[in-house]
Amino acid sequence: MNFGKKIIDKWHIDPDVAFLNHGSYGACPIPVLQKQNEIRERMEMQPCEFLGRDVWEGLIEESLEKAGSFVSAHGKDMAFVDNATTGANSVLRSLDFNPGDELVTTSHVYGAVRATMDFVALKSGAIVKEAQVPFPAKSEDEIITSIESALTSKTKFLLIDHIASASATIFPVKKIVDMAHDKNIRVFVDGAHAIGQIELDIPSLGADWYVTNAHKWLYAPKGCALLWTSPEMQDETHPTVISWGYHGKEGYSTEFLWQGTRDFSPWLCVDSAIDFYESFGSGDVKKYMHNLAWKSAEMLAEEWGVDLNLEKRMFASMVPIPIPGNIYGGDDERISIVKRLWEKHKVEVAVTDPNDQLWIRISAQIYNEESDYRKLSIAVKNEFL
Ligand SMILES: Cc1ncc(COP(=O)(O)O)c(C=O)c1O
Repeated sequence: MNFGKKIIDKWHIDPDVAFLNHGSYGACPIPVLQKQNEIRERMEMQPCEFLGRDVWEGLIEESLEKAGSFVSAHGKDMAFVDNATTGANSVLRSLDFNPGDELVTTSHVYGAVRATMDFVALKSGAIVKEAQVPFPAKSEDEIITSIESALTSKTKFLLIDHIASASATIFPVKKIVDMAHDKNIRVFVDGAHAIGQIELDIPSLGADWYVTNAHKWLYAPKGCALLWTSPEMQDETHPTVISWGYHGKEGYSTEFLWQGTRDFSPWLCVDSAIDFYESFGSGDVKKYMHNLAWKSAEMLAEEWGVDLNLEKRMFASMVPIPIPGNIYGGDDERISIVKRLWEKHKVEVAVTDPNDQLWIRISAQIYNEESDYRKLSIAVKNEFL
């Protein structure tokens, strides 16, 4: 199979380092960056034609159609946003909440998204509640039950992850959405890590909103995310920046299209990112990443003498492994371990705290191979054993 170091020259990543954290920011392949440069040159050659006409007259729609077809959605139900944080802000700040309303999320929520919920709640007098979802979760039912027990007649909004950041756990989204909709609760799904990492059919999940970062696992340049909104909620959903599109008669996608003059190139590279992804075979990419992540997690757990204790089917291309010696600590400790592993060992990996303990969260991308994880194994043994 043509993966691993054989293809790392398609990225700017230094082949001599072990880059095991695709999850945090992605890494955009060179062919996609070349396409981005071409788009920028086209814009600067004739800015008025590009920004004043082309962008409005079909370029963005074409790109949305292509993105939509990758996740079984109609382009008209999708909008580009810069990132998942902006998508969450757009939705949460569009909605009206009343004093006493409950906005519920889970203990796996991403911090920046949780901050947005707090901001909105503070302004309206609503409250934010966190369902305590265990980590490691033993089953999907355990996740669903813990979320259901946090919902009450006052709950108006539920925000769940598809693949959580710190824990890397895959949530049973469809079942949670169905359960919440039975209680008339709107559901926002934070799928920041989903597109490209797992098979994704957004409409079939039945959520009210779904945001996903194309700049992580789909290989788009930074600043490219997709916000899908159910037809029923589109009139109520607005971008964080209101501009000309607000009065656009075309509706949802057009309203998000124009948020002031900007660089549209990340959004217009989606076709090139999808072509790059598909050139390796979509199924093969996901299979390679998942198998490599899991096999490596098992190898590391054995090498470090720790208990993995996770269910394989609840993880995709990111897997957390406990740091040997049961290390506890806050952000300072987490960040200092990340820096130590990079500066002393040239290994870049995420250190997360999905429960009280610190875990190493590995990512597996198609440019990774076993030798990267062997390097991590030695580095961690050096530091902690
Ligand atoms: C679950 C989750 N949500 C949201 C985000 C925020 O993504 P961005 O910084 O691209 O907005 C991240 C980033 O890693 C994430 O993991």
